Amino acid sequence: MDHRTIIEPFKIKVVEPLPMRTRGERERLLAAAGYNLFNVPAKDVTFDFLTDSGTTAMSAAQWSAMMIADESYAGSRSFERFEATVKAITGYPHVIPTHQGRAAERLLFSALISPGALVPSNNHFDTTRANIEQLGGVAVDLVIAAARDPQDRHPFKGNIDLGRLDSFCDANKGRIPLGMLTITNNTGGGQPVSLENIRAAAAIYKKHGIPFVLDACRFAENAWFIKRREPGQGDRSVHDIATDVFATADGCLMSAKKDGMVNIGGFIALAADTWVEKLRAMLILTEGFPTYGGLAARDLEALALGLDEALDERYLAYREGVSRYVADGLNKLGVPTVQPPGGHAVYIDARALMPHIPPDQFPAQALACELYRAEGVRGCEIGSVMFGKTVEGRFHPAPLELVRLAFPRRVYTQAHIDYILEGVGEIAAEAHRLRGLRIVHEPPFLRHFTARFAPI
Ligand code: F0G
Repeated sequence: MDHRTIIEPFKIKVVEPLPMRTRGERERLLAAAGYNLFNVPAKDVTFDFLTDSGTTAMSAAQWSAMMIADESYAGSRSFERFEATVKAITGYPHVIPTHQGRAAERLLFSALISPGALVPSNNHFDTTRANIEQLGGVAVDLVIAAARDPQDRHPFKGNIDLGRLDSFCDANKGRIPLGMLTITNNTGGGQPVSLENIRAAAAIYKKHGIPFVLDACRFAENAWFIKRREPGQGDRSVHDIATDVFATADGCLMSAKKDGMVNIGGFIALAADTWVEKLRAMLILTEGFPTYGGLAARDLEALALGLDEALDERYLAYREGVSRYVADGLNKLGVPTVQPPGGHAVYIDARALMPHIPPDQFPAQALACELYRAEGVRGCEIGSVMFGKTVEGRFHPAPLELVRLAFPRRVYTQAHIDYILEGVGEIAAEAHRLRGLRIVHEPPFLRHFTARFAPI
């Protein structure tokens, strides 16, 4: 029989109690947190969808490998195992461990970027952009136009606009120390990039003599979408597809907190040795010796297995199934989401759900608070709190008002999702009554983490 239900492809060996609070308790917690979910203690969150980063449940195999880790300062066996896995998947011979993705960004960029440098990509993630800008560079987003329309169902909405990329490289000769692509495209909604687009972008970078570096933190999910959606790729293994993707580039930056299936870790991997000596010298200065780079050997052991577990196709089918199930469930209740659902998250379109709340009253923040108040769900506002600006008294809204629900890997079950969806029906029916928020305190930058709000 062909089953319709996509099951969790694991049995559960270790459990943790699910925090449960009453609606009244959550109302008080919200007020105390200044209506900012970053200020709510995790012990008071029932379903934590703030991020898929570092929130993975590890496998029994990973936990047992951690016990046999070799914590030697130099030349540890655990490093050898980690390095062998990274080499087998990426094909890159030079592997430099770091404690997480942004450490890899800072290390690579500080070797390559000087003031005035330009770095194109489909979309840069916040920390990638910030690390480029901090060195005086400019991070340039060249994603295709379809990415800006939440209802456009383009199967590879993370693709870079090849025409714009080529003319951008032409117009800025000598100013581009590296070109990038983020797979999957987190900032653009967790959308994949096709193999065809990756190859074409690589050819453009090559033609212009620009090194090409992948931001590969969700490489396994991206390879899975290539297998599922790209003509001619359906019969290939995701491992082979992933290896093909890495072969197009000169190297990658990796936050292993995503498709590394671990709670901490990252790396840089490179095809050529040109930058390696400089990077290792800097690594010793800021992260640690090149065979541990800011990690414990037990983290390297977990990562050596986790990178392969992320490429398991039953796991990836379930992973895709989670976001599709949540998105379909929300859509049936009249809650619009960015289409198609991404790999690691579902993005609710708060502006479409609550057109009566203007952007300067932060509809996505108001909805994120309501999801917590009613259901104990913690999502993340990606709208005018995060990206809106007031310049000389004039408010400039973000292009979209979204609430991101990002799914920790192997943590919640379908029963959890069904429970949440029951309550969302009520929120959707009463959405026209929800009111916006105003800011009562904001820090000078990155305000979404610490700003405080009051209901209007
Ligand atoms: N690149 C991308 C595409 C990311 O999504 C992240 C982190 C990073 C780099 C930085 O990695 O956190 O290990 O330093 N994204 C998390 C998120 C924080 O919630 O999407 P890091």
